[in-house]
Amino acid sequence: MVHLSWRILLPLFIIQGATSIDVALQSEPPSGAKSVASTLLSFSIEQDRWPDWTGVDSPNNFTLNALRNLAQLTGVPSKIRVGANSEDHTVWSPTVTINSDKFPAPNSITPYPEATSISVGDSYYQLSKFLLPGTHMTWGINLGLNNITNAVNMAKSIAKAFSSDAVKKANVILDLLEIGNEADLYSNNGLRPKGYNVSQYVSDWEAIAGPVSTAAAMSTTGVKFQGAAFAGQGFTPTQIINLGILNSAPGKFISTISQHRYSAAFCNGGDFPLTSFMSKSSVRGNLTLWKPDIALASQHGLRYVLGETNSIACHGAPGVSNTAGAALWVIDYTLQAASLGIQELFFHEGIGFKYNFFQPINLNRSITDGTAIDPPQPPHIMPAYYGGILVNTFIGSSSNAQIIELSISDSNISGYAAYEGGVLKRAIFINLHSWLQSSTGTRPSVTISLNGISASSATAKRLVIQHADDTSGLIFGGQSFETSDASAKGSVVTETIDLQKGFSLNSTAAILISF
Ligand SMILES: *[C@@H]1O[C@H](CO)[C@@H](O)[C@H](O)[C@H]1NC(C)=O
Ligand SMILES: *[C@@H]1O[C@H](CO)[C@@H](O)[C@H](O)[C@H]1NC(C)=O
Ligand SMILES: *[C@@H]1O[C@H](CO)[C@@H](O)[C@H](O)[C@H]1NC(C)=O
Ligand SMILES: *[C@@H]1O[C@H](CO)[C@@H](O)[C@H](O)[C@H]1NC(C)=O
Ligand SMILES: *[C@@H]1O[C@H](CO)[C@@H](O)[C@H](O)[C@H]1NC(C)=O
Ligand SMILES: *[C@@H]1O[C@H](CO)[C@@H](O)[C@H](O)[C@H]1NC(C)=O
Ligand SMILES: *[C@@H]1O[C@H](CO)[C@@H](O)[C@H](O)[C@H]1NC(C)=O
Repeated sequence: MVHLSWRILLPLFIIQGATSIDVALQSEPPSGAKSVASTLLSFSIEQDRWPDWTGVDSPNNFTLNALRNLAQLTGVPSKIRVGANSEDHTVWSPTVTINSDKFPAPNSITPYPEATSISVGDSYYQLSKFLLPGTHMTWGINLGLNNITNAVNMAKSIAKAFSSDAVKKANVILDLLEIGNEADLYSNNGLRPKGYNVSQYVSDWEAIAGPVSTAAAMSTTGVKFQGAAFAGQGFTPTQIINLGILNSAPGKFISTISQHRYSAAFCNGGDFPLTSFMSKSSVRGNLTLWKPDIALASQHGLRYVLGETNSIACHGAPGVSNTAGAALWVIDYTLQAASLGIQELFFHEGIGFKYNFFQPINLNRSITDGTAIDPPQPPHIMPAYYGGILVNTFIGSSSNAQIIELSISDSNISGYAAYEGGVLKRAIFINLHSWLQSSTGTRPSVTISLNGISASSATAKRLVIQHADDTSGLIFGGQSFETSDASAKGSVVTETIDLQKGFSLNSTAAILISF
């Protein structure tokens, strides 16, 4: 044993020590770089409990603070879409002031079920005044009910809210109306008979969109329609365009194609491995399928967004959607989508949902199994929020960033570069290899060297995570957002990176480098 030779030690050293990865980076944007919107990371809110997000008599300060942290990084607030399943269960009523909801009983799989019926009055839409100044919105209108009078009532109430002094003074702007949520599921969820097909959908849509466009005073400028909003590929943008939707009178007001994407579904529970989300190939598999639709939208001069998305449908899965691993997933998923030409992603949020970026009110039931929480848990930030912070830091506040994915010879480490005005500004690396509470031994790390740039040093901030399956305790650049009012806690910590030597990156971590 005394003469343990180099030949034996060397391979052990290579296996246990840091693997080296060379990454080519260009100092000017390569031809494939895509412009990225300041609002790339936006939010979708389940319509039933909208007043809980905004506040009713005064603004919900937790919501405002959480949104403001994100907005300050890009200079522009995230867009907000209000709608989703409850959009097709909402009626406007002249006798309701704000809203009146009927909820089914909670259970362990769905601790916070959506309301089955929602009646709203004019004040409901006027709560938009409590969002950050400069927020652009999309509002859902009921197609499920197939009732023109109700759809027009909703449109009129929305238009009235956005032309009110309070909302105008707040500088909250209505961009889009979306008529119907996930109509490709109507024949499964009882909103239409079995066999409901895409041609019936297009005629139903046109029949309601016509009067709605009049009620909302649509013209070549101003409010437009968000089209499609399909759950999957049951109905497709190609089909509705081939059926002539864009040539119909209201269809001329469609400016944006929206599709929805979740990587899995927890509607009936189930056990989802977190590691399947911390996977470069899964992230790409769930996004590249939209390439033909992105190209089609672009051919027709339409914007293309994921108008509702998040990790796992039906409010997320415990142990995945609510974990630190999901924060890394958010970064890679959002930036991958942007590199494919998806202009915005609206991360879906609802009170008590497991995949939220934050919970804006007290919760008295566990989001993971519905058991009572006494005293209630105050409003709080969830891990996915840090993903949003890193994405927005990466995009920056120039409003003209271009991004490109970097080629990295590791199946679970991804990276992107951001350019402004033709100059390399930032790079981000996400190490999706999972380090779990159950992991043993030495935590693996890699050393990344950047080639092709002349700078000798750069500054960096790390997203530090103890374990991928932790549900709290994340730190970005020395700071936590897990505070009672969503304000950052802790002094900013940056490090200087010697670009000649490269830098290390732990498994289950991310690093954001500024040049
Ligand atoms: C929210 O913040 C505003 C401005 O800081 C403050 O005036 C108001 O009292 C706060 N509201 C609540 C409910 O704490
Ligand atoms: C359509 O909606 C209007 C307004 O809410 C309501 O009065 C009417 O009864 C509805 N029609 C049907 C067929 O349900
Ligand atoms: C859709 O359903 C209607 C009514 O059943 C039928 O007339 C039509 O041919 C169907 N269209 C397609 C494309 O299947
Ligand atoms: C990447 O992650 C996926 C999901 O955990 C896993 O199946 C795959 O083996 C990982 N690849 C490597 C090289 O670790
Ligand atoms: C989407 O992601 C899930 C979970 O990560 C994965 O199981 C699934 O295979 C992915 N789908 C595609 C089409 O790649
Ligand atoms: C939680 O609060 C709601 C609304 O106040 C109440 O209806 C419900 O009974 C409470 N649940 C528990 C478990 O305390
Ligand atoms: C990497 O992980 C190890 C083990 O958890 C930890 O001691 C170290 O501080 C981490 N490095 C960084 C840069 O976060």
